[in-house]
Amino acid sequence: MTPAELPTIVVADPIPAAAIERLRAGPCRVVDATGGPDPLEASLPEAWGLIVRSRTKVTRALLDRAPRLAFVARAGVGVDNIDLAAATARGIRVVNAPAAASASVAELAVALLLMLSRNLYPKVLETKGGGWKRSDLGSELSGKTVGFVGYGRIGREVARRLAPFGVRTIAYDPYVAAPVDATGLCSLDELLAQADFVSLHAAATPETHHLIDGGRLAKMKRSAYLVNLARGSLVDERALLDALVSGRIAGAALDVFETEPPTFRELLDHPKVIATPHLGASTHEGQTRAGLEVVEDALRALEGKPLQGLVRSTGAP
Ligand code: MLT
Repeated sequence: MTPAELPTIVVADPIPAAAIERLRAGPCRVVDATGGPDPLEASLPEAWGLIVRSRTKVTRALLDRAPRLAFVARAGVGVDNIDLAAATARGIRVVNAPAAASASVAELAVALLLMLSRNLYPKVLETKGGGWKRSDLGSELSGKTVGFVGYGRIGREVARRLAPFGVRTIAYDPYVAAPVDATGLCSLDELLAQADFVSLHAAATPETHHLIDGGRLAKMKRSAYLVNLARGSLVDERALLDALVSGRIAGAALDVFETEPPTFRELLDHPKVIATPHLGASTHEGQTRAGLEVVEDALRALEGKPLQGLVRSTGAP
């Protein structure tokens, strides 16, 4: 095969250089289409494989413009930016890197829990602004209950990291039938009533859309915090703002938003909200693992070998 005849793999979103280098060593032609919509559009007619992160939306319309496409890789966990039904109907195989960034997301979750419990965000701002107010007391994590909504890989990693803090952990997950560790399983209502921190770790699906709405926020303790490192669609942001304004809950740490970048300024500006720009998986280690894992699957796909990260149905983390 001449180089021009090799299958084309289009890299639509930036992935680490080590992963690109590995891909370039394989039996394929690599096209860098990370520069935006125009290079991506130009590359689609020839694309045999497509590698994305979360920026590129792999819609049915995009798939229609890529007639040769046989393989899509998501260098990350969530596949909510890929129309799986349309891909499956075309026989296009989709892979992700489900565990590559679990540690990164779990560490950020712990960081946000600590920030909330010790009121760190306003305290840092206040002190850097010249203040020196030591009378506002924070709380220990020790003895508190953290409730996980969704108890897959990431929730379990967070729970494992919280155990040495002396935290009690409970979880609601309709897909987990029996306890997998020391975390007790319960209903969502029980979790909302008991948790000092409600931490969301479910996939974005039609079933989880606005799972945390006004009614559910009203079931939380007034002293409780909401933490979301999963997907913005899980939370009704308007209802969350109302709950914060009325003091119905104590605060929130949000790494993900219904629209990204977020446009709901009132929520971002609320003093009880800590906001970060979807950073959960954004570590050198997490991104390198994710990039290399999906590239290895791309190479397996080119060689007709079984794939490691094949996404079968929901792609739930
Ligand atoms: C993921 O699903 O991999 C993370 O949320 C990070 C991302 O979407 O980029």
